[in-house]
Amino acid sequence: MFDVLIIYHSCSGRSKKIALIMGSTLKALVVPVSNFKIEQFRKAKIVGIGSGIYYFRHHKEIFKLVSKLPECKKKIFVFSTSGLSSTVFHKKLHSLLKRKGYEIIGKLAVRGFNQYILFRLIGGISKGCPNEDDFKKTREFCESLKGKYL
Ligand SMILES: Cc1cc2nc3c(=O)[nH]c(=O)nc-3n(C[C@H](O)[C@H](O)[C@H](O)COP(=O)(O)O)c2cc1C
Repeated sequence: MFDVLIIYHSCSGRSKKIALIMGSTLKALVVPVSNFKIEQFRKAKIVGIGSGIYYFRHHKEIFKLVSKLPECKKKIFVFSTSGLSSTVFHKKLHSLLKRKGYEIIGKLAVRGFNQYILFRLIGGISKGCPNEDDFKKTREFCESLKGKYL
């Protein structure tokens, strides 16, 4: 029985690395969107949802998943990896989650290598990321959640 469920989508494995570190720090059940079962969501006390950022928002698989989730009072935290590592990219997902009645208890944006279009000309940004610094930031984020909610 897990208190925390982490659901992720990851095209090149960067957000998966973050999801797995969160999983081991929070002793959570970690599942990709493709293996997600609604029972897991119902049973969890806290749910983490994340992916890479694609065109200024989370991956469309995350939006598809969230639109199918039941409306209820659930504590949710959101994470992402992206070239610019900004929670500004969380805005669209946050508003969908709030419309469902969920409480957003945390947000984490870490770096993920981006060499898409213009960034390729300069060799990409956030090269080699997520790296040890990003993993440390992830563990610290999880420890603060533990202190407050678990
Ligand atoms: C098609 C495409 C669009 C992207 N759009 C953005 C973006 O809008 N902002 C950003 O900072 N990074 C952007 N990125 C970089 C990704 O968010 C980054 O590589 C992320 O770590 C990928 O995560 P994943 O491998 O877990 O899917 C983009 C990458 C690709 C390939």
